[in-house]
Amino acid sequence: MDALIDVRSLCFRYDDGTVALDGVDFQLYPGETVAIFGANGSGKTTFVLHLNGLLMGGGAITICGNAVNKQNLSRVREKVGVVFQDSEMQLFMPTVLEDVAFGPLNLGLSREEASERALEALKQVGMSGCAARAPYHLSAGEKKRVAVAGILAMRPEILVLDEPTTFLDPPGQRSLIELFESLPQAKILVTHDVECARALAHRAVFFEKGRIRGEGSVEDIVARFNWDRTVIRRPTSSRH
Ligand SMILES: Nc1ncnc2c1ncn2[C@@H]1O[C@H](COP(=O)(O)OP(=O)(O)O)[C@@H](O)[C@H]1O
Ligand SMILES: [Mg+2]
Repeated sequence: MDALIDVRSLCFRYDDGTVALDGVDFQLYPGETVAIFGANGSGKTTFVLHLNGLLMGGGAITICGNAVNKQNLSRVREKVGVVFQDSEMQLFMPTVLEDVAFGPLNLGLSREEASERALEALKQVGMSGCAARAPYHLSAGEKKRVAVAGILAMRPEILVLDEPTTFLDPPGQRSLIELFESLPQAKILVTHDVECARALAHRAVFFEKGRIRGEGSVEDIVARFNWDRTVIRRPTSSRH
């Protein structure tokens, strides 16, 4: 089976000299969800920014058979929808509906078609009732859903979710996980949330210093890299 995303020897250095990616090889296959774990600063977001050409480093990336380069950018961005960690970055129109319709309008659809797609996407994320509201008045969970709707309205084949549950309360996290479970697209899920990865991902990779240091099931990776919050309890004090 051909990979939807095929990344070969990806390297990237920021202008200040920071080497953020140092030879990443990665494949995403149809139907799978892959979790990306790794410490803060290990290169996860830099990696994600390469998947729709927001950054372009050394090496090669193909998305559904299209090389990621300047000529193919719009085609690549139709295939890969990236939901950023900070929804504020993604929401900037006066109403939710306009925000979600922005992407489809940009694809060249008519106003009617774009609105139709936006309403359908809002329905998918359970936000139909908020179409006329101002995005900045929404809760963090609602903002995240609207940001996801904005991506779904572009009908991508692949969803890339960069720390989607980070700013949400536990019920908000749970319902977002349920939403992602209901979406048929192949997914890349960057997360520190092991429960979220357990619920959604078929396998996991572990980033360290701009490289993938391990790959396996979520449980394998969590165990190998000691990657959960379980506190090792000290023996109880004998003073009382
Ligand atoms: N705009 C930037 N300019 C310079 N260095 C950056 C920039 N963004 C990120 N970095 C650096 O690149 C490395 C990888 O960062 P990032 O991809 O954001 O990691 P992660 O998402 O895993 O936390 C870090 O050392 C970080 O400080
Ligand atoms: Mg990040």
